[in-house]
Amino acid sequence: MTDTTHFGFEEVPTKEKQKRVAEVFTSVASKYDLMNDVMSMGMHRFWKPFAVAASGAKKGHSVLDLAGGTGDITALLAKKVGKEGNIVLSDINGDMLRVGRDRMINKGLVSNVNYAQINAETLPFPDNSFDVITIAFGLRNVTDKNKALAAMCRCLKPGGKLMVLEFSTMVIPTLNKLYEQYSFKVIPEFGKLITGDRDSYQYLVESIQKHPDQETLKDMMDQAGFSMTTYNNLTGGIVAVHRGVKL
Ligand SMILES: C[S@@+](CC[C@H](N)C(=O)[O-])C[C@H]1O[C@@H](n2cnc3c(N)ncnc32)[C@H](O)[C@@H]1O
Repeated sequence: MTDTTHFGFEEVPTKEKQKRVAEVFTSVASKYDLMNDVMSMGMHRFWKPFAVAASGAKKGHSVLDLAGGTGDITALLAKKVGKEGNIVLSDINGDMLRVGRDRMINKGLVSNVNYAQINAETLPFPDNSFDVITIAFGLRNVTDKNKALAAMCRCLKPGGKLMVLEFSTMVIPTLNKLYEQYSFKVIPEFGKLITGDRDSYQYLVESIQKHPDQETLKDMMDQAGFSMTTYNNLTGGIVAVHRGVKL
């Protein structure tokens, strides 16, 4: 790891990034779900079920949802694994996790969901623990992504699958300009209007630009030990769903 890293477009000491990311999500936690609907124009409601279906989670599976925040992915996973399975909804941020836990309880998802406040880089689980690990819109916020991917591989059972849903690189060149304008001019203003925090949404759009593109993330997964890595672009590559198997 180098001494500095990016926090959006800003170069910050590596040891400071985690704290800066925590400030962002603590600030937006209570309005996070509303902002997701506004920012994505509702499209995350299509991306997430696609990603959960692609994760391969099945009845009886044991699943770790990393950077799970307010629990959208966990709620979808709960239907897949049923009462015979179990899910750990985890996040580094206690405020996001608290909103997530309240939402799961309100949805009646109490018997098969557990909670853990953990950093995706240092997973406190034995080797070969989970059938499936998911991380949605979380990886780009993690300081050391390679370390996190290696930890995920270690914690999957042989034959287990990792699913990464993340913003990615637009593959329709004619829409690039429009997407960029929307990201940089509109989203931070929505952020200011809805959460009173323009800067956090400025960070979010900058972090999307800094995130590795589809092929780079696929290579990183290969390097971390995954096999049969593959991905699908959704909505022209605004997001991509990567998968990899631990052999
Ligand atoms: C954009 S939210 C995604 C929440 C949820 N997965 C979803 O799809 O709506 C990103 C989450 O990543 C969490 N996060 C950031 N860095 C993390 C880390 N190093 N380890 C675990 N979670 C992290 C944040 O606290 C935040 O809740």
